[in-house]
Amino acid sequence: MTVGIGSDHAGFILKSLITEYLGKKNIKYVDFGTNSTASVDYPDFIFLVAKAVADQKVDKGIVICGSGLGASIVANKVKGIRAARCENEYVARFSRLHNDANVLALGERVIGSEIAIAIVDVWLNTEFEGGRHQRRLDKIAELEKQFFNDPS
Ligand code: RB5
Repeated sequence: MTVGIGSDHAGFILKSLITEYLGKKNIKYVDFGTNSTASVDYPDFIFLVAKAVADQKVDKGIVICGSGLGASIVANKVKGIRAARCENEYVARFSRLHNDANVLALGERVIGSEIAIAIVDVWLNTEFEGGRHQRRLDKIAELEKQFFNDPS
């Protein structure tokens, strides 16, 4: 599995902690930036991660900003992305079990780093349940077809 990861300046420190964690766990990752705490615009970096997931260049994405909100909003603009902003392990687990979330959004300014790592751990290690939940995801995909102005 390869994880794409990206953040703005407000998520940079948490991104560094998560890439360190991924390295320790021997999980491959591609870091899409940003590379410092100098102010940048979160859409520029978060979009790169979401696009890489949608294009199957990486298997899953982790996006980080100050609140996690901008990151999740941007990622969910990309067709095929189901980004889940998680603040605890319960929500992270269900974002995989029921929603098959393919992007995890985190807010560096609203969760502690140990909680963030625990969220990443459960999120990466929980499989989608399928079944009735797949039917619901199919409905989301239909909505994307209608409203993302792409009839494919
Ligand atoms: C940056 O100050 C902050 O607005 C950004 O990281 C994010 O929280 C936006 O949703």
